[in-house]
Amino acid sequence: MKESVSVGLLGLGTVGSGVVHMIESHQEELQQRVGCVVKVGKVLVRDIEKNRGVDVNEELLTQDPDEVINNPEVDVVIEVMGGIDQAKEYILASLKNKKHVVTANKDLMALHGRELLTAAVENESDLFYEASVAGGIPILRSLVEGLSSDRITKLMGIVNGTTNYILTKMTKNNVPYESVLKEAQDLGFAEADPTADVEGLDAARKVVILGTLGFSMKVGLDDVKIKGITEVDAEDISYSKKLGYTIKLLSIASSENGSIELSVQPTLLPSRHPLASVNDEYNAVYVYGEAVGETMFYGPGAGQLPTATAVVSDLVAVIKNMRLGVNGKSVILPQHERKLKKDDEIKSKYFIRLFVKDEAGAFSKISHLFKDHGISLEKLIQEPVINNGTAELVIITHETNHQAFEDVHSQLNDLDVVVEVKSRYRVEGM
Ligand code: NAP
Ligand code: HSE
Repeated sequence: MKESVSVGLLGLGTVGSGVVHMIESHQEELQQRVGCVVKVGKVLVRDIEKNRGVDVNEELLTQDPDEVINNPEVDVVIEVMGGIDQAKEYILASLKNKKHVVTANKDLMALHGRELLTAAVENESDLFYEASVAGGIPILRSLVEGLSSDRITKLMGIVNGTTNYILTKMTKNNVPYESVLKEAQDLGFAEADPTADVEGLDAARKVVILGTLGFSMKVGLDDVKIKGITEVDAEDISYSKKLGYTIKLLSIASSENGSIELSVQPTLLPSRHPLASVNDEYNAVYVYGEAVGETMFYGPGAGQLPTATAVVSDLVAVIKNMRLGVNGKSVILPQHERKLKKDDEIKSKYFIRLFVKDEAGAFSKISHLFKDHGISLEKLIQEPVINNGTAELVIITHETNHQAFEDVHSQLNDLDVVVEVKSRYRVEGM
């Protein structure tokens, strides 16, 4: 084993600077854990002149990717530049050069993870990506190591800090959506284009990674049903609270009889559920295993040092494997072909809020429609809307299947007593 391991960084932004800071400030602990010096050998950036708030010898900076990925001195490449095409090209080239790779890139791993992991195995190199889901929470290693003896049946995650921050402020401080989004952008959690956060795409990329590992299944982004938080309004939140629930953007991956469901959507959770108290920009992943029962992993889902912690822990795993000569052996490829649940196999309760004509027989017509589809009603609130002859009706159903609920939803719009269906959400966690 070499006396020192040299790390080449692709990127020196928020996460890259945190990685350099951790390698320097935790050098003593790192050496104890891996038995050699860990040093930064080369760093790819776009702008060499930029002030970065971290001390890096100017001679280490380069604008030429070859000086990292084709550099014989570099043992491990850490990709923290983001983006898809260039990052993929550089990682594949690094693996072909027998370098090990650590990445924080969720977008890339959700889209091209299988191809990259296959290349790692073929080249007997490691490719680890703990930071790609839930930042500082070691959830990927917990799934594939800590819970490896169990059969996981359900994963529910709050894995996007921006939307959790927005929903928390809307719920606790009654702040309107637009002004909280601006706050989240100013605080630096939101993506450069926050559409990926608020429309659920960022959480969907993370649930692809969670589902692939949790159920060892070859799934992709097209397999995720995605709904973001842009339509959640103050009334949805207020009625949810009255009924004892909290709205969270949940990423769900669940498995039954060998078929799985992947989805991202605003979901009502009972306010006593452990995920309901995950607030602000924090993340959490709830994992249900047949043997272990309920577990939950909680912590910061983004930010410089939390994310760097995950990246540097992956680096430690790579160097330990180098000592043992087993690189590439713990890279995990999904085993099962994709098998998705049909809509009538997805079971949950639902919340629906609608405006109806405030007249005799209106509720009877609505309740008959639910009954005709075998859906029983669990809770309801009806409030008259002053002076316009309508009433607002909020219903929580008992457990049903997604197909039956969607059929009712579309037929409600055809009933003469229904003025408008305002919103509908899944209800989980009973
Ligand atoms: P960032 O602050 O924008 O930093 C990106 C860095 O990469 C910059 O140093 C930039 O160089 C460099 N870079 C980008 N494209 C390049 C190119 N084509 N050639 C050379 N250098 C290039 O991004 P970040 O927030 O650190 O995020 C990095 C990765 O970590 C992303 O994949 C992100 O999704 C992931 N991640 C981030 C967080 C977080 O909290 N920030 C959490 C989890 C995962 P210049 O500095 O010269 O412009
Ligand atoms: N925009 C992401 C979030 C950053 O809000 O969680 C971490 O992936």
